[in-house]
Amino acid sequence: MDLVKEIQRLKKEKNAVILAHYYQVPEIQDIADYVGDSLGLSQKAVETNADIIVFAGVHFMAETAKILNPTKTVVLPDLNAGCSLADSCLPEAFEKFTKEHPNHLVITYVNCSAEIKALSDIVCTSSNALKIVESVPKETPIIFAPDKNLGKYIIAETGRDMLLWDGSCVVHEAFSMDKLIELHKKHPDYKIIAHPESQTHILKTATYIGSTTGMINYVKAHPNQKFIVATEAGVLHKMQQEVPNTDLIPAPVEEDNTCACSECHFMKMNTLQKLYDCLLHETPKIEVPEHIIERALLPIERMLELSN
Ligand code: 13P
Ligand code: SF4
Repeated sequence: MDLVKEIQRLKKEKNAVILAHYYQVPEIQDIADYVGDSLGLSQKAVETNADIIVFAGVHFMAETAKILNPTKTVVLPDLNAGCSLADSCLPEAFEKFTKEHPNHLVITYVNCSAEIKALSDIVCTSSNALKIVESVPKETPIIFAPDKNLGKYIIAETGRDMLLWDGSCVVHEAFSMDKLIELHKKHPDYKIIAHPESQTHILKTATYIGSTTGMINYVKAHPNQKFIVATEAGVLHKMQQEVPNTDLIPAPVEEDNTCACSECHFMKMNTLQKLYDCLLHETPKIEVPEHIIERALLPIERMLELSN
């Protein structure tokens, strides 16, 4: 069976749309109707007229699409596609933390569960985090969760003193500073670009820091440059498609990293076969309790408004 043809046929027949993150395997990116970063994917989820959203990404992303489209069917090829950042912030502990600091505004990075979003005032992504924090009056104290690395980056850039949750992304924390320096010595003409989920010492080496879309746009704007890319390696697929003649090297990771590469094993759980199966059977479906949708929608809508 030609999976690509079958997926395209089913998509038309069922009026479905495939939204994919840049960290998905190339064959999924290539069949998707839209490939983007977390913000772009949320914006597409709002705009779509499709009856079914096949979300080729991780659970929190599909959940966000469901919160924005409670009446649509949202399916995720593999329900186990989670996120270490989202897992680092559990609702009970987070609620206790927010209650200990009742005068703080709660800003959460989109990489968290629907329950955490329901406990938030505003959601943000890596592409709008600085803008959103800067939109808050200076005298308002802020809790920022769950990514401490993105939080530290925002503090350094804005001078805001925020209370940080102690969460992080396993993929972005695996980059090796020693190996990066070694690699850069071998390739001194390459510029380093990094995602703000990376640790501070990695970010200090970067010429550009931004979301996955931001990084792709930066490479597009500098077509004669060569780059070492410090984010999940899946992004190199779209980068190379956009600027075919650019030389790109994924940033190196620590020796003891399980796959010895900068791949997110959650993102890579989705395969073309699973995508076909989930479109055919319309399962596994993403379900979010109504009372959580009611509370999680407003902080996401605030983010979308502030991103225009
Ligand atoms: P962006 O999609 O905002 O670049 O974030 C990357 C990420 O880690 C998604 O899980
Ligand atoms: Fe989560 Fe990191 Fe994977 Fe993104 S790359 S989904 S933050 S574990």
